[in-house]
Amino acid sequence: MRHKKQTIWGGRFTTQPNEKVRAYTQSHTFDSRLYRHDIRGSLAHAKMLKKIGLITAKELSEIQKHLLAIQRNIQTDKFQWRAELEDVHMNIEAELTRRTPAGEKLHTGRSRNDQVATDMRLWLKEEILSHQQLIRRLQNTLLTVAQKNKNCFIPGYTHLQRAQTVSLAHHFLAYVEMLKRDFSRLEHSYDITNYCPLGSGALAGSTLPLDRTFVAKELGFIDKQGKPRLITNSMDAVSDRDFIVEFLAASALTAVHLSRLAEDLILWSSAEFNFIQLSDTFTTGSSLMPQKKNPDIAELARGKTGRVIGNLMSLLVTLKGLPMTYNRDLQEDKERLFDTADTLRLSLDLFADMLSQIKVNTIPCQIAIHDPNLLATDLADALVEQRIPFRQAHHLVGSAVAYALHSGKTLRQLSDQEWQTLNPTFLKVKHLLTQSPYQQLLTKKTLGSPNPKLVEKEITRWQKKLKNS
Ligand code: ARG
Repeated sequence: MRHKKQTIWGGRFTTQPNEKVRAYTQSHTFDSRLYRHDIRGSLAHAKMLKKIGLITAKELSEIQKHLLAIQRNIQTDKFQWRAELEDVHMNIEAELTRRTPAGEKLHTGRSRNDQVATDMRLWLKEEILSHQQLIRRLQNTLLTVAQKNKNCFIPGYTHLQRAQTVSLAHHFLAYVEMLKRDFSRLEHSYDITNYCPLGSGALAGSTLPLDRTFVAKELGFIDKQGKPRLITNSMDAVSDRDFIVEFLAASALTAVHLSRLAEDLILWSSAEFNFIQLSDTFTTGSSLMPQKKNPDIAELARGKTGRVIGNLMSLLVTLKGLPMTYNRDLQEDKERLFDTADTLRLSLDLFADMLSQIKVNTIPCQIAIHDPNLLATDLADALVEQRIPFRQAHHLVGSAVAYALHSGKTLRQLSDQEWQTLNPTFLKVKHLLTQSPYQQLLTKKTLGSPNPKLVEKEITRWQKKLKNS
C-alpha cells in the first residue's frame, strides 16, 4: 500500500519534494480548467478498458459514478485542489482512488503525457469553435454598420495622407474579408487539432491491447465521415505542440487585424478626424481633464495584441530546443494558450459590442470628402480616356494641383481660362470635380472597387453567406 503522504509516482523515491519545489512544479492553479476534458478522456479510457477486459463492468460503473460526482464538485467549487498532487490529472485521479479502489485501475496503459495532450486537444477544439462564432458575430456587426452607412463617403488614406474617395462601407468590408481568412485559418487549426493522442502511453505505446480507435470515436476525434482520427506515431503524439502553435499564430493574426481596426476607430474618434463617436459605454474619462472621452477599449485591444503575439513567440522558443519526446517544459504551453484564447475571446466580443454602437458623424465626413484633391487620380484617368498617355496625364494633373495650391484655390475653383492655360483637354473632363461623391464613385469600373453598386452587392453577398453559415 502506498503511504498516504506519498505522491502518485512516489514508489521509487525516498524523500518528498519540498514546498518550494511543489510551488514551482504545480500546474493545477492554471490547468484545473481542463477538468471537464480530463474527466471526459478518463471516461472514454475506462470504457475501453472494460471493453478489452482489463476492468469489470462493476469497476467501470464505480469509476463513472465517482468521476461524474467529482466533476459536479469541481463545478460547484467544492473540490479541494492539492498542490502536492501537481496537476489536474493527479488531483482527479487521487480523489477518484480515495472514493473507490477501482480508481487504482484507471491509469492502466495511460501516461499523463498522452493524457495531457488529449485534454489540450479536446479543450482547444471547443475553444476554436467559439472563436469562430465570435468572428462571425463581428463580421455581422461590421456588415450592419456598413449597410446603415452605405452612402457615407470618406477619404481613403495611404501613408495616412488623403488619397482617394471610398465609402465607410467599403472600408469595413475590407475587415470582413480579413476576418474571413482568420476564420479559415481556424478551420485549419481545428483540423490538425482533431487527432487523438490517447493510447500512445508515455512515448512508446503499450503492451496492453488498448483499443485506440474506440477511444478516438468516443471522444469525437473523427472526420466528417465519422472515421476515427488517431495520431499515428506515439512519440509525435506526446511531444509536439504544433497544434497549439498554429492556433496561437492564427490568433496573433486575428489580433493584429483587430488592432488595426482599433487604430482606425481611435483616429476617427479624435477631434482631428471626428468621423465617428464611440458610445460612452466603451470609453472612459480622465481623472484630471474633465472634457476627455478616451477610447480605452480600442486602445486595450491594440495593446493586448502585444501579449498575443508574445505568447506565440514564447511557445515557439519553448519548443525549439526540446529533445524528443515529452519534457516538462511542455507544461508551459498552457498559460500561453489560455492567455491568448481568453484575451482574444474578450477582444472579439467587446469589439462587436462597441462597433454596434458607434455613431457616424456624417457632416465631418462630408467636409473631408469635399477636398477635390481626392479626385486627382480620377482626373488623370479621364485625361487618359481623352487619349493622353498616363504619364503625361499624371504630370498635367500634378501641375494643376501645384498651380491651385500656389494661387490659394482648390481645383474646383479654377476658371476655364486657367484650365485652358494648363491644358485645353481639362475643359472636357473637369466636370467630374463637381459630381457628387456617389455619382463619381459610380464611375469606378473595376471589380472590388468602392463603386456603391458593387459595395451594395458585396453587402448582400456577405449577408447571405453569413446567414447560411
Ligand atoms: N502537468 C503536466 C503538463 O502539463 C502533465 C504531464 C506530466 N508528465 C510528466 N511526465 N511529468 O505537461
